[in-house]
Amino acid sequence: FIENDLKKNAPLFGKKVLITAGPTYEAIDPVRFIGNHSSGKMGYALAEEAAKQGAEVILVSGPTALSLSNSSIKLIQVTSAQEMFNKVHEFYAETDIVIAAAAVSDYKAKKIADQKIKKAEENLTIELEKNPDILKSLGEQKTHQFLVGFALETENELIYAREKLEKKNLDFIVLNSLNDKGAGFKKDTNKVKIVSENEVKNLPLKSKQEVAVDIIQEIVERVL
Ligand code: C5P
Repeated sequence: FIENDLKKNAPLFGKKVLITAGPTYEAIDPVRFIGNHSSGKMGYALAEEAAKQGAEVILVSGPTALSLSNSSIKLIQVTSAQEMFNKVHEFYAETDIVIAAAAVSDYKAKKIADQKIKKAEENLTIELEKNPDILKSLGEQKTHQFLVGFALETENELIYAREKLEKKNLDFIVLNSLNDKGAGFKKDTNKVKIVSENEVKNLPLKSKQEVAVDIIQEIVERVL
């Protein structure tokens, strides 16, 4: 009984939160892919924290080496951006809050070779085509959902972050800077700015768990 009462008093009780995490892998042949260095740590930390605050959490994750400690989180594993797109849209209508922390590949191979590509010519060209932008599509279809995106920029970070905020119809965007020591890929710490239409919050360097607490707190303040 006590546990149930605690859950009902949690700030995100009754809310459905959809989180994307990790990289996507885009196959070029049966044994190779285009990927990136995303570890998934930020997204997994957000999933754990949202669940701790009482939310019903669905985590759509690209390939990572991570596991979840909270067994109530629904984990859906995907490989490519298109698969992530499909899964996210499947659950979107019934979702209240989306946090897109995945490092989605912008491009995929135009044709996936049926057989392993053989070593032959000195130069090899693989033609790429754009992947769908999952978060942009969610922004376009937004009805009541609260949308949070991530951005990693190497220059003009605030300008680009604000552009994305508007273009993807987001409520706020979490800006990682690769210029900050201790921030970004594979690390256990992160230094971020929370950027909304009329405010920029600079957070100090923290563990990804602590950053997750701050991001979920920011959502709670804005949603409730
Ligand atoms: O445009 P950019 O990739 O920098 O935007 C980053 C944000 O958009 C992240 O929240 C990321 O998860 C999301 N994104 C997405 N689908 C893509 C590319 C990015 O959901 N194809």
